[in-house]
Amino acid sequence: MLIRKPSEFPSSAITPKDEYINRRRFLRGAVASGLGAGAALLGADRLVDLISPSARVFADTKLQTVKSPLSTSGEQLTSLQDITHYNNYYEFGVEKDKPAQNAGILPTRPWAVQVDGLVKKPKTYDIDTLLKFRPLEDRVYRHRCVEAWSMVIPWVGYSLSEFIKDCEPLSTAKYVQFLTFYDKKIDKWGTQETSIFWPYSEGLRMDEAMNPLTLLTFGLYGDVLPNQNGAPVRIVVPWKYGFKSAKSIVKVRFVDKQPGTTWQQQNAREYGFYSNVNPTVDHPRWSQKTERRIGQPFYAQRRTTLMFNGYGEQVASLYNGMDLRKNY
Ligand code: MTE
Repeated sequence: MLIRKPSEFPSSAITPKDEYINRRRFLRGAVASGLGAGAALLGADRLVDLISPSARVFADTKLQTVKSPLSTSGEQLTSLQDITHYNNYYEFGVEKDKPAQNAGILPTRPWAVQVDGLVKKPKTYDIDTLLKFRPLEDRVYRHRCVEAWSMVIPWVGYSLSEFIKDCEPLSTAKYVQFLTFYDKKIDKWGTQETSIFWPYSEGLRMDEAMNPLTLLTFGLYGDVLPNQNGAPVRIVVPWKYGFKSAKSIVKVRFVDKQPGTTWQQQNAREYGFYSNVNPTVDHPRWSQKTERRIGQPFYAQRRTTLMFNGYGEQVASLYNGMDLRKNY
């Protein structure tokens, strides 16, 4: 994985969420009430092109949510500004601030998720059906990237297991693969700036996918996902390094063999299929013992990384018999 120098936001620059959303609503209102001439002057085709992607998303998109018993408590949430401007989404650029700048053109409607492979019958789910399929829960999770930084994110979604049951996988299905949106005319940065073989692919063993913590995710901070965070639907697997959490998924495939995954294909020595957060197994090029919490200044003490990112009680039994000192 490319390691870029992270951009640090001084705490004075972090806008509280309400203020941020209000500012965006103001912008939208201002546009509606006559900034059209400005668009023409600036040479923009559409007014919406003047507004940043996150502004568009946060206009009128509040989701109806319920609190989740599976939320992590007692940790300070990472600010909306950091969650939406410090991203890994290589299809839209490899620098952390690029997805926020470039992902606005991701076409999130219409959107469908195709289900195929070892299922009773292949199906296609429309995104609006998925949004209503189960009550949307507010779930706070720690988010640990393999690059040794972390955040605490209030996601919105429901357990992937709910969706999988509806997919009716056959008993021969041992793994589930997620394939994500890729169109080289739209997310052209992926082709221009990386040698990755697109689309992005990730996978989980069936029992991992069925674990209640694995979240089919539609939003964060109570709103729909900003494009740069994987709109309109992504996976979040909180006990694994962040790259296991595929963004903007369009295909869910049930298979009998471990599927090929993007980072493993790039460099199997550095990125295993399992990639559980594990402070005892260093990445070949850096330590995984500690992490930098995004939003805190560089001089702040690094945090000790927790085994399974602190979710061992819920997931350790999935790996009975595996030697946890090894990189899988
Ligand atoms: N999904 C796609 N399609 N493309 C990506 O580049 N990056 C992964 C993961 N999912 C990635 C992806 C990595 S490395 C991480 S750490 C997380 O998304 C980052 O999610 P975030 O930007 O919402 O924090």
